[in-house]
Amino acid sequence: MQVAGIRRIGARIEMIETAGPRPPADDEVLLEVMAAGVGNWDEFVRTGGWDVGVKPPMALGVEAAGTVLAVGRAVSDWTPGDPVMTHPLPLRDQGTWAPRLIAPAGLLARKPDGASWEAAAAFPVPALTAQQVLSEALGVRTGEQLLVNGASGVTGSLLVTLGALRGAQVIATAGPSNRERVSALGARHVVDYHDQDWPDQVRALTGSRGVAAAANAAPGGAASALRAVADGGRLATITSDPPGEQRGIAVSSVYVRPDGDQLRELAGLFADGRLEIPVGASYPLADAAQALAQVTGGHPAGAIVLAF
Ligand SMILES: NC(=O)c1ccc[n+]([C@@H]2O[C@H](COP(=O)([O-])OP(=O)(O)OC[C@H]3O[C@@H](n4cnc5c(N)ncnc54)[C@H](OP(=O)(O)O)[C@@H]3O)[C@@H](O)[C@H]2O)c1
Repeated sequence: MQVAGIRRIGARIEMIETAGPRPPADDEVLLEVMAAGVGNWDEFVRTGGWDVGVKPPMALGVEAAGTVLAVGRAVSDWTPGDPVMTHPLPLRDQGTWAPRLIAPAGLLARKPDGASWEAAAAFPVPALTAQQVLSEALGVRTGEQLLVNGASGVTGSLLVTLGALRGAQVIATAGPSNRERVSALGARHVVDYHDQDWPDQVRALTGSRGVAAAANAAPGGAASALRAVADGGRLATITSDPPGEQRGIAVSSVYVRPDGDQLRELAGLFADGRLEIPVGASYPLADAAQALAQVTGGHPAGAIVLAF
């Protein structure tokens, strides 16, 4: 099987010939991958910063959408032909940048009928991350003021939508070109993060008290976001930049966790049209290195995917 991956930690991404997928174990499914997500996190896997359960030579990729081809003997929830999406960690065999994927059946969610393969493939990691930030790290409650820093990104946009669905009053930061889109997602106020004093602008919107909770999705942005949080509030960051605690603010650094039940719940909101994933660009598997370079190189304007 030709996969896109690495021969050793830190190596460049190339097409690698691997043994074909083995038959699924009792609790596994074999998927025909239709599309796979590409994120900054794949660079962490490539360079050894995130152990996803297998060692090189290996296919990269930690999220995918595809069709069930075969199921293990203990699997009763899925049958061949089902369209699904998954964040299947720890990997059982290979990463998702491969035409076939072995995944634990418990980590699958049904792909919404109306969603493209590309959007479904790019959904699991950002959606799970956003949900875990809001429900677990921050415990955001109805009526609370919630800051989302980096709201125009794929994960940031889901933080805004899910925050608004929880009944929070969302204040977001985004560049001027994304102001309208972020407002349409449910943000009451959108502040331009290019203004040096943006945390003061957020404070002014809260009667100078500061927000009760803040989610940071902007690389290196957690310290600025902290300035906009009320004394005794909560801050969660997904960009590995937790500032030291101050003013009684609880600070947490969140890393996505695979969770089948949570993914199926989020898939319901995706199917209802309450969550969306804009796809910025789609590459063939052989151009995986270029796809990842677009992600790590700056502003991709939507999710980047590999389509098969
Ligand atoms: N810990 C985890 O488990 C986890 C999970 C998912 C993602 N992440 C990380 O979270 C970050 C965001 O992910 P994403 O999927 O939302 O990325 P993305 O789609 O690439 O979003 C990047 C966005 O960030 C905005 N931005 C850039 N610099 C900013 C700044 N200084 N202040 C505010 N906004 C800024 C840009 O907005 P404009 O276009 O408006 O300028 C851009 O749209 C990435 O670093 C990713 O690796 C971590």
